[in-house]
Amino acid sequence: MRILGIETSCDETGAAVLEDGKLLSNIVHSQIIHSRFGGVVPEVASRIHIKAIVPTVEQAMEEAGIGLDGIDAIAVTTGPGLIGSLIVGVAFAKALALATGKTIIGVDHVASHIAANLITYGSIQEAFVCLVVSGGHTHLFHVDRGSLRLLGRTRDDAAGEAFDKVARMLGLGYPGGPEIERLASHGDPGAIEFPRAIRRGYEFSFSGLKTAVRYYIEGTGKTLSAGAAADIAASFQHAVFEVLVEKTIRAARELGVKNVSAVGGVASNKVLRQMLKDAADSEGLGILLPEPGLCTDNAAIVAAAAHDMLLRGESGASLVPYSTATY
Ligand code: KG4
Ligand code: ZN
Repeated sequence: MRILGIETSCDETGAAVLEDGKLLSNIVHSQIIHSRFGGVVPEVASRIHIKAIVPTVEQAMEEAGIGLDGIDAIAVTTGPGLIGSLIVGVAFAKALALATGKTIIGVDHVASHIAANLITYGSIQEAFVCLVVSGGHTHLFHVDRGSLRLLGRTRDDAAGEAFDKVARMLGLGYPGGPEIERLASHGDPGAIEFPRAIRRGYEFSFSGLKTAVRYYIEGTGKTLSAGAAADIAASFQHAVFEVLVEKTIRAARELGVKNVSAVGGVASNKVLRQMLKDAADSEGLGILLPEPGLCTDNAAIVAAAAHDMLLRGESGASLVPYSTATY
């Protein structure tokens, strides 16, 4: 079974070919132009997807060494995401399916992020707790063979969004996550005691922390030295990750599952990966961490989610793009 995956939910144009769960190609065209604006500009993103979609798909097919006749199904992200961006991918996939007579499968973006685990680990029979942590999501799910149960989510900013906003306060580029991670590696995570927003249950909140960082920076009343900026980045990063790790581990303990996972762009962060590994080890839990390149947006995970759905006899989501999820 060969699946062509297509991803255009935000600012990456992605195309990938997956053969029986194994990756033959995975091309990501990142729209670096948004760094100039400090965040994704939806209309600009849609326009670039229009330009990038054909060459990106062609490159994925070429790298996989097959033509369109070698594809069994086309999988495409239908949401949640930026509507204009999603429409480009869905319209392209529909046209391709019509022209080739191939099956088309609509895939939810969050299900795709979770399916990154299937590429790295193969099929997963046991239930696990999965933290989906990206620019649009900070959601904790109980995952049992493709069925997702939402345990809790952020009440305000997603963790990745908080990274992007704090990066902007520190004069760093977009996306902010990798920039903060780089700067934080020179700082002391214990230097500043930023508030941990421990909301009840499995819910998260990051807007208070973000505001605390703003007040802290304004309170210094001067241009930050490199060392001071690094301490802010490290302390902010640590405050976010402590809460993410604590709730993920607690959910596994309370629900009696043996494995925890983290996916989504923020889960490519080495410090978060290490903190989660250490916490899982000390609780005797197993850990599922897809490689960093499969955590950020890409089309391989779209194809992997579709493959999993086909194996379970599911036909996929409706092919009408949606901006928010109904979890
Ligand atoms: O999953 P993703 O590529 O797109 C969405 O679905 O949102 O995640 C992008 C988000 C951005 O907010 C970005 O700043 C964050 O993930 N991110 C990181 C890192 N790499 C990307 N956050 C923290 N550390 C990183 N290394
Ligand atoms: Zn994503």
